[in-house]
Amino acid sequence: MSKAAQIKSITPSVIRARKGGQPIVCLTSYTAPMTKLVDPHVDLILVGDSLAMTIYGMSSTVGVTLEMMIAHGRAVARAASHACVVVDLPFGSYEASPMQAFGAAAKVMTETGCAAVKLEGGTAMAETIQFLTTRGVPVMAHVGLTPQSVNALGGYAVRGRAEAEAAAIMADAEAVAEAGAFSVVIEKTTETLARTITERIAAPTIGIGASPACDGQILVVDDLIGLFTEFRPKFVRRYAETARSIEEAITNYAADVRARRFPAPEHVFAATVP
Ligand code: KIV
Repeated sequence: MSKAAQIKSITPSVIRARKGGQPIVCLTSYTAPMTKLVDPHVDLILVGDSLAMTIYGMSSTVGVTLEMMIAHGRAVARAASHACVVVDLPFGSYEASPMQAFGAAAKVMTETGCAAVKLEGGTAMAETIQFLTTRGVPVMAHVGLTPQSVNALGGYAVRGRAEAEAAAIMADAEAVAEAGAFSVVIEKTTETLARTITERIAAPTIGIGASPACDGQILVVDDLIGLFTEFRPKFVRRYAETARSIEEAITNYAADVRARRFPAPEHVFAATVP
């Protein structure tokens, strides 16, 4: 049997079937080398539009383009062999109509080889989600804090503390699940709301800042490994201090070059092969 034939990747249907079971482990990744490290340990990899901040130094996700998502989605899908790869549809590529969303999703799927797309929004996106899922595009939905709407929301505050807002987010989650989303990201809401959504909808919920009540968890990998250090949201646990290690390595390299300690004899080519 060829190596390719032995490889089994996790599909969106497998993720959906994990509702209420073992917690679903998800992380973002944007590049091939990071994907090779992440892939064996997680169930789902999201090529998130958070790459706006982690890779491109932007201040929000609003400026991300379809071309950026396709370039990173292709690198990640090529490097992954186990996890379900999902690519974010960027702001402006899907909101106008179901047809616009299908065009963007089909382009992302055919040009990257990913298994599914993610889009932000609740009741307003339900018709679009149904249009996509009935035409062969698995969709991960995203409710609660939806960063692409930062200009309309006025910031990144916790969502669902007020009763009316909680009810609206509950309705959003129900609408996207009924429309056929295979999973629903809940971002930065209260634990009570995340628990109620998780109990009420059939799709698995994936929390980011939404408590352990969800069916799974996702974090931005650069936050988890301490590579992105501009700010640290309350819901992030740092498992490594990668930026610090990189800085130390580069400081040592610069000192070695200046002191002529690098290159050393073992890095030098002799005129004749010994
Ligand atoms: O863009 C992103 O990384 C996300 C998250 C859910 C982590 O949407």
